[in-house]
Amino acid sequence: MFASPLLSWYDANRRALPFRGTKDPYRIWVSEIMLQQTRTETVSAYYLRFLNRFPDVFALADAPEEDVLKCWEGLGYYSRARNLHKAAKVIVEKYLGAFPADLDLLRALPGVGDYTAAAVASIAFDLPAPAMDGNLTRVLSRFHGIREDVDIPSVKHRLAELGREDMPDIRCGDFNQALMDLGATVCTPGTPDCEACPLRSLCSAYQAGDAEALPIKAAAKPPKDVAMAVALITCRGRVWMNQRKETLLKNLWVYHLTENCESRPEAEKAIRNLGLRASFQMELGKARHVFTHRVWNMTLYHYEAESMDCKEGRFVTLNEMNALPIPTAMKAAKEQATRLLAETDWLRKPSAKGEKVP
Ligand code: ADE
Repeated sequence: MFASPLLSWYDANRRALPFRGTKDPYRIWVSEIMLQQTRTETVSAYYLRFLNRFPDVFALADAPEEDVLKCWEGLGYYSRARNLHKAAKVIVEKYLGAFPADLDLLRALPGVGDYTAAAVASIAFDLPAPAMDGNLTRVLSRFHGIREDVDIPSVKHRLAELGREDMPDIRCGDFNQALMDLGATVCTPGTPDCEACPLRSLCSAYQAGDAEALPIKAAAKPPKDVAMAVALITCRGRVWMNQRKETLLKNLWVYHLTENCESRPEAEKAIRNLGLRASFQMELGKARHVFTHRVWNMTLYHYEAESMDCKEGRFVTLNEMNALPIPTAMKAAKEQATRLLAETDWLRKPSAKGEKVP
């Protein structure tokens, strides 16, 4: 019922985004996965770089996972990259590289939920599926005056149903993207700019004057604090790194981490358990990284190992370190490791007489 004024508004006000103006399901899928938990402004640069490196689904399916993670470095939520890679293999093996124009088949791909399936189906194939992200939830709950917690499954379901009813027969992808743009620029969280809204004369919340209070959401649980010791264990110009096995940051490369570690001796015990004999050098400061459900409060330490023999992980050079996918949570530690390795590198450079300084 409001599709017509909304689409006219979109034609005049749409945001110029690099992932717009294509009907290629591969490109749309990549952008929508990136946009799941990352701001539009941040995604734009990553999107262009990713497509340059993996221009089609075959290139992505053929690549080693480590290359995909490296290209994703900085975007966070790395399970998205791992699933993207897995799904690319499915598209190539099961569908010979052609994305299925079917909501349920898209939904069955690794990492593709209701939102992404609907976004790809509507934008690439013009299928009538509302892409219920935070923007659509906010706009539709205000427009239809849904004054219940939008995280309750039955309320979510009703909102998606309303989205389907509002969807026009054509320009389904534009309809979704128009709601996303309206949500991002006019019908914003906090104080919406109702005077600029093309839908205000039909909007329940505008008429009731409670747009600012919608959508209703139960307060989110605060993330859990974790004390983390980060040990940079160096040995003759290299630093010890290991690929994570835990679900959080799985397969990414990190320095020596001891979780729930309030004191240095606990970290030192863990280092000894690797078979390493390492002597404490100094504390290198603190760093903090906020994930969705936890906060790492990190203390950085420097150790020098006597030898590189160890049960797990490996000692890498500065160049090798820079080629590995390392999560943003390690940003401060990586800067310190870079400094330590660069200093050792300088010490190990041939002197004027051509000998190495030991
Ligand atoms: N957020 C997620 N997908 C989007 C899209 N296609 N356009 C604008 N914002 C978005």
